[in-house]
Amino acid sequence: MVKRTFPIDKFKDLQTPFYFYDVELLKETLRNVVAEAGKYDYKVHYAVKANVNPRILSIVCENGLGVDCVSGGEIQTVLNIGFPADKIVFAGVGKADWEINLGLDKNIFCFNVESVPELEVINELAGRKGKIAPVALRINPEVSVHTHHHITTGMKENKFGINLDQLDTVLDTLDLLSSVKLIGLHFHIGSQLVDKEPFQALCSRVNELQQQLAKRKIQVEHINFGGGLGIDYACPDRNPIPDFKEYFELFHTHFPVYPGQKIHFEPGRSIVGQCGNLISQTLYVKEGSFKKFVILDAGFTELIRPAFYEAYHKIENLSSKEPIEVYDVVGPVCESSDCFGKQIDLNKTRRGDIIAIRSAGAYGETMASQYNCRQLPKAYFSDTL
Ligand code: LLP
Repeated sequence: MVKRTFPIDKFKDLQTPFYFYDVELLKETLRNVVAEAGKYDYKVHYAVKANVNPRILSIVCENGLGVDCVSGGEIQTVLNIGFPADKIVFAGVGKADWEINLGLDKNIFCFNVESVPELEVINELAGRKGKIAPVALRINPEVSVHTHHHITTGMKENKFGINLDQLDTVLDTLDLLSSVKLIGLHFHIGSQLVDKEPFQALCSRVNELQQQLAKRKIQVEHINFGGGLGIDYACPDRNPIPDFKEYFELFHTHFPVYPGQKIHFEPGRSIVGQCGNLISQTLYVKEGSFKKFVILDAGFTELIRPAFYEAYHKIENLSSKEPIEVYDVVGPVCESSDCFGKQIDLNKTRRGDIIAIRSAGAYGETMASQYNCRQLPKAYFSDTL
């Protein structure tokens, strides 16, 4: 394990809080995902929602990945960066008409459709343009996963996808619609999944589904397994790059493809998670009657994951080598939930110390807000600092 070092001297001249991205690690991660997916000719669409920083997007684009978008804004953003439209998949349970029209006008690769009413609207809007919209059905595979309940998606009770027992009805509807073409099936069972079993269960479920479709003489050209591969939040220096080799190997072993069939993935967190760090400064160390608090100048406005999902992020004091003390690490926002971690071991911390909150590259900057009239965080990059 190589402990990550940060250019702390350069940090001292910058206004905290800000995001600091390790560009070398991002590039290494991308090389790895491209090589491992390439072994089986799997197609990778980066899930843009994880991080839309233009520099990050450009690097992802240079590496030839496609993208998974969930809004018209994301589609416009990736087109501006230079991603080709025919590598864009468009998912989301509530696509507005203008967003569907944008996808149709730009000739994106595929609409991942989540309901019969949506299918009908896409059919109508495509028909008006004299186009045929390529669609994949997002099927809810009912595979249970162990992750925070806010980020499970593949169960019956979730709002996402078409339930398995409704599939026949949807296929009947499809037969009646002339401006949509079924090209694939789409799945996504949840996020931050660190066990292999759910992915294996997903393969079995999709195999069964294909057999069910074969009975209706349907064979789809594209299977999209979504995203979800987790990262090591506990120890980012031990596992800076997720095990893409094992991940794709699992699908190769458990999911036989038809001749000509193409397999797609939508990783977000596993690509950008470990390359991002939220850098903050200690404003005060407050000794309460029961606890000591480290009060940072970063709050849930910059990184909401701990407050929203009770997510763990490793916290490090980059300025101190003094013996460990135990603190609650909190932000300045006027809410009790503005807390990055309780009873955290940190080197003795003093006012002005620089604190790194690790593994914040995914769903950090993208989920920042301006609550309390705070400014959105800036971003700096290891190769241009
Ligand atoms: N594909 C679909 C259809 C998705 O809904 C998602 C994530 C992904 C791909 C990418 O998943 P990933 O590889 O990043 O796990 N804000 C939460 C995570 C929300 C994930 C939403 N969907 C967090 O901070 O943990």
